[in-house]
Amino acid sequence: MDKKLVKAINEQIKNELYSSYLYLSMAAYFESKNLPGFGHWMRVQAKEENEHGMKMFDFLADRGERIALEAISQPPSDFSSAQEVFEETLKHEKKVTALINQLYDIASKVDDKASQIFLQWFITEQIEEEKNANSILETIKSIKSYSAALIMLDRELAKRGK
Ligand code: FEO
Repeated sequence: MDKKLVKAINEQIKNELYSSYLYLSMAAYFESKNLPGFGHWMRVQAKEENEHGMKMFDFLADRGERIALEAISQPPSDFSSAQEVFEETLKHEKKVTALINQLYDIASKVDDKASQIFLQWFITEQIEEEKNANSILETIKSIKSYSAALIMLDRELAKRGK
């Protein structure tokens, strides 16, 4: 594989593991605020990010490339509100989307088709990641303008079958 591409995927392993660490830190924040449901969501998210990192780890291993783990930065631990946490989550996911797109551009430039196909999964996943963060953020914001009961009714109505 092209050396620049291997380096970029190695960096993205670190970025995914940082995402995991960031969401675990957010889980810890929610636990400290006695919001275990939010905490649970963030724990699941942290696990998913670890899996993203491992997908890249396995991809490099399967292609016979050297995996080089980099240092993971300390994530923030103090947040002012649930809204701020999800604003940060959405901002972070948008950054990750840009990084994945850059990776895809490198894979295209060096004409590594296996990497391009591999990265397509991540491109699709990022649509979901941004959507989920945005949806929770918008719900948190609307709780400020609508009653919590109306939001709960909206969730009930969403369950209607065809
Ligand atoms: Fe691994 Fe949240 O993207």
